[in-house]
Amino acid sequence: MADFILSAEGISKKYGAFSALTNVSLKLKSGEIRAVIGPNGAGKSTLTNVLGGQILPTAGTVVLDGRIVTGLAPHRRAGLGIGRTFQINSTFRHMTVRENMLAACVAAAGTGYSLFSSKLRVLDSRVAELVDEVGLSNISESIVEAISHGDRKRLELGMVLATGPRLLLLDEPTAGMGLNERQDLFKLIVDVVKKRGLTLMFVEHDIDIVFNLAERITVMARGSVLAEGNPDEISADPHVQEIYLGESVAAKGATC
Ligand SMILES: Nc1ncnc2c1ncn2[C@@H]1O[C@H](COP(=O)(O)OP(=O)(O)O)[C@@H](O)[C@H]1O
Ligand SMILES: [Mg+2]
Repeated sequence: MADFILSAEGISKKYGAFSALTNVSLKLKSGEIRAVIGPNGAGKSTLTNVLGGQILPTAGTVVLDGRIVTGLAPHRRAGLGIGRTFQINSTFRHMTVRENMLAACVAAAGTGYSLFSSKLRVLDSRVAELVDEVGLSNISESIVEAISHGDRKRLELGMVLATGPRLLLLDEPTAGMGLNERQDLFKLIVDVVKKRGLTLMFVEHDIDIVFNLAERITVMARGSVLAEGNPDEISADPHVQEIYLGESVAAKGATC
């Protein structure tokens, strides 16, 4: 068995002359909880997309369980255990919570099922379990459009879990949410990850959440990895302090 569930070596991504990523390497141990942080434009989403298969890197290799997957399409990577959510919402707004989860289960079950199949009832208990796992049982018959942003994010997480991932890549899963909702969602994510024994890599702006939850932190700036370590090592790193102090000083300046 490979030591690392996922490893990326020497990843670069160019858009014309602009380098969004330059020689980025990152290894995720099976079962670890990793945060990726860094200022806007640092390359966090680009890296997550390279790992998930949404973006083909200009150079470098992505290895999943010892197998090179650099050029593999996202759905093939999902089949190998990579679950991915996006900054934008990917639920069906006019369907209920339960129907969305059913659609995710049908998609995950593959060609033997369709939304009109009589075999669909077989999936009912799985759908109910997933809805319950993400804490939405009480609103399972609500139309997605009518539920809160935080509950939509819970649903989205459940729909990714329907694919049976071993590694979750979450790009700012709490974007646009209030502090309490953010903390609740992250509590759920970590509970699910630990209970299922998954590996988690998440991108998050809220430094308190990151330092509370992550076992290791990768700090990116201008398309490169600036630092990597446990929360104590990262908070003591002078380069990291510099970019975050720089940000807060800039923010204070902007309010004057
Ligand atoms: N399709 C694209 N074409 C050109 N530049 C891009 C494209 N996607 C991202 N970039 C640029 O790459 C850099 C990294 O973007 P991104 O990975 O989204 O950063 P982050 O998620 O850390 O905020 C940014 O400067 C962004 O403008
Ligand atoms: Mg981003």
